Amino acid sequence: MKIGIGNDHTAVDMKNAISEYMKELGHEVVNYGVDTTESCHYPEIGEKVGRAVAQGEVDCAVLICGTGVGISLAANKVNGVRAAVCSDTTTAHLVKEHNNANIIAFGARIVGIEKAKDIVKAYLDAEFQGGRHAIRVDMIAEIEQRK
Ligand code: RB5
Repeated sequence: MKIGIGNDHTAVDMKNAISEYMKELGHEVVNYGVDTTESCHYPEIGEKVGRAVAQGEVDCAVLICGTGVGISLAANKVNGVRAAVCSDTTTAHLVKEHNNANIIAFGARIVGIEKAKDIVKAYLDAEFQGGRHAIRVDMIAEIEQRK
């Protein structure tokens, strides 16, 4: 798959480790994040990655800031984005299976690199289950139309 990755200044080492890991798994990785620890604004990265996913530039994406929350909130403002914060592997596979999340996010200040790799693997290995879950995901898209 072609996978986007975005991060703020709190998550440069984590971004590099996760990028390498996803490449080892055989994926193409596109870096939309920052590469220095100079303070930056996570909403800019979240929006950029959200638009890349919504426009089909990449198949899905990983977002990382201090907590994973701010950067995912920003991405979720883009129509068509379903970004989910995951701090454990159970959440990571369920957000794909039930919510068809097209972005996962986590916090570099919350999870360590090995846990983050497990989260990414759980998400990438999972498949959307459709059925009743598709009805609910469609309902989320309908909310966007009522904006
Ligand atoms: C940056 O200090 C921090 O606020 C950011 O990385 C993130 O945790 C926001 O949600």
